[in-house]
Amino acid sequence: MIGNRPQFVKAAAVSTKLRERAEEVLVHTGQHYDRELSEIFFEELGVPPPDRRLEVGSGTHAAQTAAVVKGLEPLADEVAPDAVLVYGDTNSTLGGALVAAKAGIPLAHVEAGMRSFNRSMPEEVNRVVADALSALSLCSTDAAVRNLQREGLGETAVLVGDVMADVAMIFGPVADERSNVLARLRLEPGGFIAATAHRARNVDDPANLRALIEVLARGAREAPVVFAVHPRTRARLEAEGLVDGLRERGIRTVAPLGYLDITRLVRASRAVFTDSGGLQKEAFMASVPCITMRDETEWVETIETGWNRLVGLDPEAAVRALAELPRPGRETSPAAELYGGGMAGERVARALADRLG
Ligand code: UD1
Repeated sequence: MIGNRPQFVKAAAVSTKLRERAEEVLVHTGQHYDRELSEIFFEELGVPPPDRRLEVGSGTHAAQTAAVVKGLEPLADEVAPDAVLVYGDTNSTLGGALVAAKAGIPLAHVEAGMRSFNRSMPEEVNRVVADALSALSLCSTDAAVRNLQREGLGETAVLVGDVMADVAMIFGPVADERSNVLARLRLEPGGFIAATAHRARNVDDPANLRALIEVLARGAREAPVVFAVHPRTRARLEAEGLVDGLRERGIRTVAPLGYLDITRLVRASRAVFTDSGGLQKEAFMASVPCITMRDETEWVETIETGWNRLVGLDPEAAVRALAELPRPGRETSPAAELYGGGMAGERVARALADRLG
């Protein structure tokens, strides 16, 4: 079951492997519906087209989760699957987990055990609930397995590696070859910073949004910033009247990009400024330094190996990090090994067959 941008990427690593062993009914909840956030990922990554679509759309957390639950419940009855597989930490993940648990269908969770230990993040709440209800916790990292053990859920845990890392390994070189994003935006490799921001805490609070722009503007004094703007963020920037001042401060906004374009952009950048979990890893996989505009991260390996730094919304900490982190490609990051060596999708399919098949 998928519904948001990062989940389409994750399914790209799992669906084909799963279909070699079992029948998959792929459900798209429709939490993301804009082409740049949704359909383009199916086209570029070869994710099988969804078998069912719910079209829940946008709304408050309650409305969105309720729409997923309401849409999935009759489907679960009709399809009567042997297991429900959910990905990540979104409201679609939460809705899928609740329906499976109440229908008595074993739940499997990809990216289980990730923790920020910050329950003011909606994603953290979604993760904790999905993990508590899972029969099979498919973990990306050792740290995730340890988190589940600490919560008394160690018996459900299987270390499979990170499915997004599988996709980055396969599609990184493909993106370098096929994407023309650098030419389109007239960018030179190594000469710019790639930025994204969409976390509720950073963009919904006007003071934090202004502080985030200050971080990007400070970065732009070192290298021009290309800011791929999520629709949530675009709406908040417009509401605060912040869009017009960006260009003169060296921040160039572009619409959200497809997977191949954002991958190419990251791989060719001097550094990444982001609050996304996925991009922290994608930068790491590409040996590009990442400056994370949050106070905590679930992907602690990226910090421990010196490729990522948490700077919150502090502009000076961000430029210090930019100066101190390794330059892109200087050393090869141990990313592939730490995140499962490209085998996570295969291991997810195997664990599902062995444990719940
Ligand atoms: C969601 C996830 C987040 C994930 C992100 C990936 C939750 C709680 N959050 O955040 O963990 O990292 O997806 O991008 O599930 N909108 C559009 N078009 C769309 C979808 C959304 O314009 O196709 C706009 C709407 O104004 C909407 C807003 O974006 O209100 C936020 O969308 P929403 O689905 O609530 O969460 P994301 O911020 O995308």
